[in-house]
Amino acid sequence: MLINNDTIIKDTDEAIRRKSADVVLPLADEDRDVLMQMLKYVDDSTIPEIAEKENLRPAVGISAIQIGIPKKMTAIIIKDEEGNKACEYALVNPKIISNSLEKACMASGEGCLSVVEEHEGLVYRSARVKVKAYDALQDKEILIKAEGYLAIVLQHELDHFKGILFYDRIDPKDPFRKDPQALIIE
Ligand code: NI
Repeated sequence: MLINNDTIIKDTDEAIRRKSADVVLPLADEDRDVLMQMLKYVDDSTIPEIAEKENLRPAVGISAIQIGIPKKMTAIIIKDEEGNKACEYALVNPKIISNSLEKACMASGEGCLSVVEEHEGLVYRSARVKVKAYDALQDKEILIKAEGYLAIVLQHELDHFKGILFYDRIDPKDPFRKDPQALIIE
């Protein structure tokens, strides 16, 4: 399967709004293979030489629906400024089991591999989430206690399972509405 900026499903295609289904565990080889290719995309996408050569748009996460597979699988890699992996997940059936009332948003808004046009505005999400998932990298059920950027990324990716895109959460009347209680992530 070729995953690049041409094959990733965009929001101009209604398929991106499809709901994703639970994945049967134990994980089938074909599902694992897809998930590992998604993880490779994310890893390669932030290496400029590879990204340019293979037409990859930089990303921290990708969900299976974005490559046309309506299954609850998402790959996430967050790297530090030196390009070292701060965290890496290949998640199957991730589910938010609790979330903070406190909100957070990225100061510069969000982006998405499936969204080409610019959508400016603040995307408020929970500041902290606990996510239960099967991690195909560790091959076990895990509990992620996330805050800050990782919490935002997880919620963005899990929204894809419901067919929700980040800009659906921007207030159309006041895109930069300031919530004084919310944490702003720079
Ligand atoms: Ni996205």
